[in-house]
Amino acid sequence: MKITVIGTGYVGLVTGTCLAETGNEVICVDIDAQKVEKMKEGIVPIYEPHLDVLFHRNIKANRLQFTTSFSEGLDHGEIIFLALPTPEGEDGSADLSYVLGVAQSIGKEISEYKVIVDKSTVPVGTADKVRETIKKYTTVDFDVVSNPEFLREGFAVDDFLKPERIVIGSSSEKAIELMQKLYKPFVRSGNPIIVMDEKSAELTKYAANSFLATKITFMNEIANFCEKVGADVDKVRIGMGTDSRIGKRFLFPGIGYGGSCFPKDVKALYKAGKEANYNFSILDSVIRVNDVQKTILIPKIEDHFKGKIAGKTIAVWGLAFKPETDDIREAPALYVIDELLKKGASIQAFDPEAMPNVQRRYGDTIQFASNMYEALNKADALVISTEWSIFRNPDFIKIKEKLNNAVIFDGRNLYDINDIEKEKIKYVSIGRKQII
Ligand code: UDX
Repeated sequence: MKITVIGTGYVGLVTGTCLAETGNEVICVDIDAQKVEKMKEGIVPIYEPHLDVLFHRNIKANRLQFTTSFSEGLDHGEIIFLALPTPEGEDGSADLSYVLGVAQSIGKEISEYKVIVDKSTVPVGTADKVRETIKKYTTVDFDVVSNPEFLREGFAVDDFLKPERIVIGSSSEKAIELMQKLYKPFVRSGNPIIVMDEKSAELTKYAANSFLATKITFMNEIANFCEKVGADVDKVRIGMGTDSRIGKRFLFPGIGYGGSCFPKDVKALYKAGKEANYNFSILDSVIRVNDVQKTILIPKIEDHFKGKIAGKTIAVWGLAFKPETDDIREAPALYVIDELLKKGASIQAFDPEAMPNVQRRYGDTIQFASNMYEALNKADALVISTEWSIFRNPDFIKIKEKLNNAVIFDGRNLYDINDIEKEKIKYVSIGRKQII
């Protein structure tokens, strides 16, 4: 099939590349000429495991092309994916100006039947708005479909190629049939393509992300409570998670959820509730609890240094909002660093992928190390904020040698309490025994 993807951010690029992988002819459109040039030269503009192999293979096979020309893109595809940003607007609701701007251009230039697919996470009712916007400018027949993505950064290629489910929101038989044909190769395992109306599909995405953010937040509160009463959240987590109604995943406490999706989507759903005269009080709590959780280590660090953080050097392992990505959007590490800088500490940071992005934000105000141990040189404490595998099995002797003070503040519960007790390192983690 001929496919066009408008917007080559992380979702658009993964979508375009994976659709080319199953033999479709894909054109990706972006207004950023520099980015398009780079992609034409075979440079993948984001870090996403396994994407580069598919990207190069499909460019070589001429199934994946890039252009800045909207008209060329619109002409090409029978299905047009909109993978455009929907940033958080000033009032917390999703900003639809990119999506509706492109809808207007489609309306002005469409000359034959197309299926327009909302791939971006958009509020309930957006498919209707896109349809109305296009209709203002044309009488040509078209359909609008809501097809939310459920891609996890770091696993996006795998999630796209082997999805647990595909949600298609549409009221047009013709569009549903085309979408089913497109996605059939991805659900050979028997996983479902779930067809529903546009609004339910739009809400499914928000509900799924908000539920997961709530699950994590609930566990973060249980962890905080564990510390108060001397329980161990690791044990509670396993005890709870083995109940299949609860499930083991997304029960890991830490210094809060971040990333490009959860924070934005929870706020947008809360805001959408308000607009519909419905108060999502659970989401209000989730937002507030997560805000506090992101800096939950700060009072613990302050206690350790008896209130005197100024002048201390703190090593930080992990800057990305989670492992296997260079994405630092809403990364809890940045909230921790901001607080520590405010209190007068110096930062020596290391992250396997995210340092260039962080450097753009902080410039020279923090130091970057070329490896995890270099970050520890003469530091007064180590803070762990992202659970990269490389941090999971460190050389504790080296840690003790390099740090002025053998103390670790672990925001991701990477180490076994018993192991670390033997190492004679002070160790503060989330919801477990504090070794101080
Ligand atoms: C998420 C959804 O999982 C995906 O389906 C959606 O399409 C986009 O948003 P992503 O943001 O890439 O994906 O990351 P995810 O792995 O879901 O983690 C989100 C945040 O939750 C991270 O900050 C992570 O550290 C945190 N998290 C996750 C926890 O704190 N505890 C957990 O148990 C799981």
